[in-house]
Amino acid sequence: MSNIQSLRGMKDILNEESELFTYFIENASKIAKRYGYTYLETPILEETALFKRSVGESSDIVNKEMYQFIDKGENDVCLRPEGTAGVVRSFVQNKLDRAGGVYRYFYFGSMFRYERPQKGRLRQFHQFGCESFGVDSVYEDANVILLIKDILDFCGIRFKLQLNSLGCKECMPPYKTSLVQYLSNIRTELCEDCNKRIETNPIRVLDCKNEKCKTLLVDAPKITNNLCPTCDANFEKLKAILTLNNVNFDIDSNLVRGLDYYTQTAFEFVSDEIGAQSAIAGGGRYDRLVEFLGGRATPAIGFAIGIERIWELIKMNQTQEEHYYFGALSESCVDAAFEAASIKRKSVKCSIEYTPRGFNKHFKNAEKLGATVMAIIGEEELKNGTIVLKNLISKEEKTLFVKDI
Ligand code: HAM
Repeated sequence: MSNIQSLRGMKDILNEESELFTYFIENASKIAKRYGYTYLETPILEETALFKRSVGESSDIVNKEMYQFIDKGENDVCLRPEGTAGVVRSFVQNKLDRAGGVYRYFYFGSMFRYERPQKGRLRQFHQFGCESFGVDSVYEDANVILLIKDILDFCGIRFKLQLNSLGCKECMPPYKTSLVQYLSNIRTELCEDCNKRIETNPIRVLDCKNEKCKTLLVDAPKITNNLCPTCDANFEKLKAILTLNNVNFDIDSNLVRGLDYYTQTAFEFVSDEIGAQSAIAGGGRYDRLVEFLGGRATPAIGFAIGIERIWELIKMNQTQEEHYYFGALSESCVDAAFEAASIKRKSVKCSIEYTPRGFNKHFKNAEKLGATVMAIIGEEELKNGTIVLKNLISKEEKTLFVKDI
């Protein structure tokens, strides 16, 4: 009988990767908290209708990629393909839209999309995301972008920021009409997917990856030239704030994002160091989604970073965490070593070797574990209530009373 393997596109996270994973989550959470975000957790399983209504029936995510099934109670449910919809559902369900005020939440966890797995594209992947509710100011858009930049800078990740405005309910419909007119004239030359999208969601034609389509779309009307005065002023202001704060960006008027809920600001952070799946974070404003999901109209903006996409790019802060290794030289000293480790662990990371061994054997073990200090108790030390500490970086050795370490 062959061993059972994990499913295609789903991975275990362990050893070096889990070090990177927890390092990233801890530090991204710290940075998000500095910007006023608090942790929120929503269920992984939600009603399918939630994603149909928010991400959009015509999106690839809903159409082709959902892990959808009927549960034992005949409910149509699916594993979340992204985090925003659940957070908005929770916001409305907890009546925060009615309470008024500003709410900022961060989250992280597994998302599921039944895509064709390849490098940087998994079926179960992890996002770190933030969602801000109740702020109708473009300064919040800038702050969200600065927050992502702070996280990526902290991890030593180089990126490019692509920016667009998708307008609002005033300027998007007339823009769509003129785009459809343009597309209808070149219809026969566009790919099959684009032809479908002209009917279902014409702006998605703009980010078709087919080279021929791309060339044909060069002269298509641009949303950034068709914004209403309010959206135009907001977009100009956002660009000015970013420039003032030394954030470089490129305007990409074909950046439409694969989710239907965006209005005005839309952005992607991309890296040219990770291959074809180059988007490391994406997000934007979604001022109409709370209302779509039954709440009171509430301005909102957010983003999500794909953790597996930045895995290889994270440079861990080189300051090595203090790590004590405790060992005993004989059986009678194990209890004392164990007790000393339990006390020291209240303030620093400690490992303990339960089996008594010689000094050199302990030294090898401690090095293998990446300890910074080795703490050893032998018969002599046990008698005196002391412990030998060897600093594994400076190689300095000293004997202290156990109570003083
Ligand atoms: P998204 O662009 O679909 O946006 O996903 C955000 C990030 O998740 C992507 O930039 C990418 O790094 C990562 N990602 C997406 N699909 C995969 C995959 N199959 N494998 C590995 N990584 C992946 C959203 O999900 C929105 N909810 C973001 C948002 C929050 N907008 C507003 N608030």
